[in-house]
Amino acid sequence: MAWITENRRTAVVERRAEPYLTNEIKHELETKYFPRYPTKRAVLLPALHAIQHAYNWIPVQAMEEVAEFLGLAPAEVMDTATFYEEYWLKPKGEYLVQVCRSLSCEICESGALTDHCKKKLGVEVGETTADGRFTLIELECLGACGTAPVALVNEVLYENLTTENFDKVLDGLPPKAQDYKDPTIDWQEESHGHAAHPAGHSEVSREGVHSDPHGGAEGKTMN
Ligand code: FES
Repeated sequence: MAWITENRRTAVVERRAEPYLTNEIKHELETKYFPRYPTKRAVLLPALHAIQHAYNWIPVQAMEEVAEFLGLAPAEVMDTATFYEEYWLKPKGEYLVQVCRSLSCEICESGALTDHCKKKLGVEVGETTADGRFTLIELECLGACGTAPVALVNEVLYENLTTENFDKVLDGLPPKAQDYKDPTIDWQEESHGHAAHPAGHSEVSREGVHSDPHGGAEGKTMN
């Protein structure tokens, strides 16, 4: 397999006047994460997550700001950010549709699911729709082989998928991704200041998906 090289030496870094690492994000890192770790540099992964959560991806300028904040070299931050494929270093759609392509799912026709998504969204794997709403990718095993085929939509796992019930999932997504919440979590309790907890599972059956009261399409899961 050939190495894929990227020319970072002459790449132009797009910059903006206001920082990505806002005082609010810094405050969260300082109060929530610094006490958990022995060194500031150990907070790098949560810091990158915080940036990605806020902007949906991690710009180079943000990596530089994180480096300065944590006392790291920018190259160290980039090393880490490029190592984990969960970090997005280019803009992605509001909804990341991630179809598992490993063996169990493949046997259960995940390929047909991916092909259906490609056709429905009008993109190839790895591409983002023109309106910026969806990015389609394939993933390796998500550890839910017993209910293959499965897919993630952002952080929500859907199991026992068919093209029909996955259509309902995608069609039922709320207009804004920040309103999209895992239907298996008791979000109402969290909104009252308590930790959220799983409130039982609902299932995407092969017959279809039911609408959920929080605006997102309802999931899943194993029995
Ligand atoms: S092969 Fe898809 S979840 Fe394991």
